[in-house]
Amino acid sequence: MSTKELIPNIYCVGSKDRHRPFFDNLMPLAEGTSYNAFLIKGSEKTALVDTVYPPCHSELIDKLKEMGVEKIDYVIINHGEQDHTGTLPELLSLFPEAKIVTNKKCQEITMGFLPLKEDQYHLVADGDEISLGDKTLQFMFAPWVHWPDTMFAFLKEDKILFSTDFFGAHVTNYDVFWDGTDTILPLIKAYYAEIQMPFAKVWAKYLDKIAALNPSIIAPSHGPAYKGDGVHYIMDLYRKWSMGPRANKVAIVGVSMYGSTTLMIDYLKKALEEKGIEVKHHDVMDLNNTELASDLIDCKGVIVASPTVLTGLHPMVVEPVFLLNAVKPNIQFLGLIGSYSWGTLIVNSLTGLLGNMKTVPFLDPVLAKGTPKEADYAALNKMADTIAQNY
Ligand code: FEO
Repeated sequence: MSTKELIPNIYCVGSKDRHRPFFDNLMPLAEGTSYNAFLIKGSEKTALVDTVYPPCHSELIDKLKEMGVEKIDYVIINHGEQDHTGTLPELLSLFPEAKIVTNKKCQEITMGFLPLKEDQYHLVADGDEISLGDKTLQFMFAPWVHWPDTMFAFLKEDKILFSTDFFGAHVTNYDVFWDGTDTILPLIKAYYAEIQMPFAKVWAKYLDKIAALNPSIIAPSHGPAYKGDGVHYIMDLYRKWSMGPRANKVAIVGVSMYGSTTLMIDYLKKALEEKGIEVKHHDVMDLNNTELASDLIDCKGVIVASPTVLTGLHPMVVEPVFLLNAVKPNIQFLGLIGSYSWGTLIVNSLTGLLGNMKTVPFLDPVLAKGTPKEADYAALNKMADTIAQNY
């Protein structure tokens, strides 16, 4: 096992979980994920930034043993989720003198999941510093960059930002740093969509604070670190995705039962494409949450397509609608099309699931009784016109 350096005296001691199929049993992982941990050797003290997901504990522990690490003074925990903290109990049993350096909220979260005691913590406030001798770590609170406990650690002398999940990616095919290409861009984007997009309006201000630090390296807790042009690459992507611009693109998310809703999907798709609008149809019978969430970064609007089942949405449509509400894309409009037979309350069924999207304009729904007729196709044409003219 060879341990790589981020820079001299800072070692990459995390693990790569190449065969993990899903993250949170929700997001399909194309090549697994990594849990980065960094050992910082100062002239007087040693700090470990993050631990790893418990099933991968041996990779971290073996690296520390192989390096001959005898003492760890601080374990910096920037965020309490267990993929970065789950190995804390085992680590502290090996290095009992180590203090967990984190904030009060993160202490509350980690003590909720792990058998840890208050006296094992060294709590910090926003802006606090700890010295390792020739190296100084300063903490910047960044609540709701993902979780309310989130903070960053900035190594002042080397200008390295340890950004926890911010700027991460679920990838394993990399060395230490981003390779300067767009090869992993789809995975960076997918991670952004599922982890960071929901709070984009809250954290946008932190991009300016980070830029003011002028970091030479950004080292997140998943995926490659970024240095030089890479720092600008990842920050520019986040700024673009959080603010727009959107593509001239619409997502239609839906399913059919006997084909009537499919006729409506196909008709609307063609009508929009004839107006120069790109349309991505996500068939929920073949749904990939990651692809849908990534697509929602770019789309200016979303049309839900569902037949009525027992007066409401088709249950297979509920999952992507729930995801849409959860990731809160920066879209300009929502719409609903679909067929029903004997009665429908599908509009209420849909809007009841979209509490986070209340401020997004809702186009006039197009609901066909039975197979779509001339009037229904005219209504779909009107919907396409509205989208083309207003958005
Ligand atoms: Fe990678 Fe929110 O933990």
